[in-house]
Amino acid sequence: MTHMRVLLAAGVLGVVVAATAALAAAGPLDGAGSKVLNCAACHGAAGQSRSDAMPILAGAHPVYFKKAIQDYASGKRLSPEMEPYAKQVLVLGLDEIAAYFAAQRREPSRVKLDAAAVERGRTASTQCAPCHGPAGKGDADKGVPDIGGQPPGYLRNQLLLFKAERRSPGDEAVTKMKALLKAVPDDTLGDLAAYYSSLR
Ligand code: HEC
Ligand code: HEC
Repeated sequence: MTHMRVLLAAGVLGVVVAATAALAAAGPLDGAGSKVLNCAACHGAAGQSRSDAMPILAGAHPVYFKKAIQDYASGKRLSPEMEPYAKQVLVLGLDEIAAYFAAQRREPSRVKLDAAAVERGRTASTQCAPCHGPAGKGDADKGVPDIGGQPPGYLRNQLLLFKAERRSPGDEAVTKMKALLKAVPDDTLGDLAAYYSSLR
């Protein structure tokens, strides 16, 4: 080996060691964990988003998670940001990646909430409880997501998209919820988002 090659090899090794250390700090070095490293740029390490706009993936029910990925990949749920990543997940292994995020314990959003909005949202949430449950945990088998502790900005935005028929148009899984949301004023959608974000 020439001197140059030895230097190059040492450099590559250094990068590998640094990357391995970063991985070990982020969580277990399992197969799925290493397949979803690039999700962290938007969804946070191990899916624990700290942003108001990006959903937390940690603790997502697998049935719901898999449907979301399939809907993005097929274009049913429109998101130019998510579509390429959803297609990547289908190639890398949907079941394994869904199981990885389901196994992460959700760290609820720390975005500051307005206490009065949370209380108004609590009152309005009785109409959501038949499907989302009294604590917002949803129904893992029926594909109803756990929305407790999600960032309020993300929740509010999705509610507005549903109401305007801009999320998953024509999807029968959400016909009933959309019919309900049409009658809810936008301000109340913000209150509902604050309430569900506050749940632990
Ligand atoms: C460039 C930023 C970005 C990256 C990288 C990214 N996502 Fe997303 N993701 C988003 C955005 C934005 C949304 C919300 C889109 C919408 O409005 O439906 C989203 C939504 C999702 C949802 C739906 C969550 C819910 O509660 O409905 C899932 C599941 C998801 N992403 C999985 C992943 C996975 C797995 C990866 C890595 C393979 C990934 N994302 C990488 C930006 C990103
Ligand atoms: C008839 C059952 C039903 C009712 C009632 C209902 N939902 Fe839903 N909700 C669902 C289902 C099913 C989904 C998953 C949609 C999908 O597959 O894309 C969902 C998804 C959501 C999401 C998206 C979560 C995410 O991670 O992107 C939010 C937010 C939400 N519901 C809030 C509410 C609120 C607030 C109410 C009350 C005003 C409500 N829902 C009433 C069934 C329901």
